[in-house]
Amino acid sequence: MEHSTPLFLTSSFCFDNAEDMRAAFADETDANIYSRFSNPNVNEFVDKICLLEGAEAGYATASGMSAVFASFMALLKQGDHLLSCSSVFGSTHTIITKFLPRWGIEWSYVNANKPEEWEGAIRPDTKMIYLETPTNPGLDIIDLEFVSALAKKHNLILNVDNCFATPICQRPMEYGADLVVHSGTKWLDGQGRVIGGVIVGRKDLINDIYLFCRSTGPALSPFNAWVLSKSLETLEVRMERHAMNAMHIANELKDHPKLSWLKYPFLSTHPQYAIAKKQMKDGGGLFCFELKGGIEAGRKFLDNLKMLSLTANLGDTRSIVSHPASTTHAKLTEQERQEVNITPGLVRISVGLEHPDDVLNDILQALDR
Ligand SMILES: Cc1ncc(COP(=O)(O)O)c(C=O)c1O
Repeated sequence: MEHSTPLFLTSSFCFDNAEDMRAAFADETDANIYSRFSNPNVNEFVDKICLLEGAEAGYATASGMSAVFASFMALLKQGDHLLSCSSVFGSTHTIITKFLPRWGIEWSYVNANKPEEWEGAIRPDTKMIYLETPTNPGLDIIDLEFVSALAKKHNLILNVDNCFATPICQRPMEYGADLVVHSGTKWLDGQGRVIGGVIVGRKDLINDIYLFCRSTGPALSPFNAWVLSKSLETLEVRMERHAMNAMHIANELKDHPKLSWLKYPFLSTHPQYAIAKKQMKDGGGLFCFELKGGIEAGRKFLDNLKMLSLTANLGDTRSIVSHPASTTHAKLTEQERQEVNITPGLVRISVGLEHPDDVLNDILQALDR
């Protein structure tokens, strides 16, 4: 009769007799066997994400990256080609460009802002299209209806990282995506506590992913699943406030003389504003801008902030700033950064649940110092 789900901190589960155990191993029942395969806390989290995303099935992983990796490794094989977009999260870029080729899986990138080039990049051996929208960190918006039609026409799996929007703001499966991956670490947790990930989508594809993960072991811990599942109960109200705060701050900053441009999906100045309005319920909790003055201006801005956190995360109750060119992407050459759309003065703000004017004033004062 617990009102809050209890924690099932157990590695394995017991059976009353040999027959029950045989039937569970033969997949004749859905009894839990071992927490690398399934666990009540993990199952609860997966079931909730399936409902939110409108998906048939899912599997939760130890991190967002293990979700991305498993979705590639379970469904692609030597000789297959993956089509993706140059604007993807840094570690995803590393998997695609450095690790997949080791297993004979080829890849190519298209530009998020040039949809007319996408169809020409599809090859006879292409198996999957993988994308993020909005993209990290540049917040480009990709038209899900358009890409989904392309995937259907060429019989490709459409795999969408919905981490930035969350299912509250955007449901890629309604537009025809076959799979949706998440980093639970971001808005789903929303309070910067645990690392986790999840993949949901078509039952047949999830079954292949489950069989891959069951043997290779990127399982989500029951404790982290419990935290994430609880967090989903407040996801909608949190996301509404994050988006309201982000819209207010972005609108106040958009014409600031020290910025070359500012992008927020629901500001009419965003290059893909019409697409954002079509497929998103609101603009989400992130905006980004380009500081005049490049890398040094970015470093100075970070040093001048008093309230925003300088930390390698996003999607927290507390507002967070990041400057990719001097941190996450500092090891790349200028040309490599350009290829993945990281400009020298690019700053990304993840807007928290503080009073928006406090966040705005901190940013304004840091720009003026
Ligand atoms: C868009 C996106 N996808 C995936 C990930 C990876 O998630 P995790 O850090 O939980 O492995 C991140 C992390 O920043 C991300 O921003």
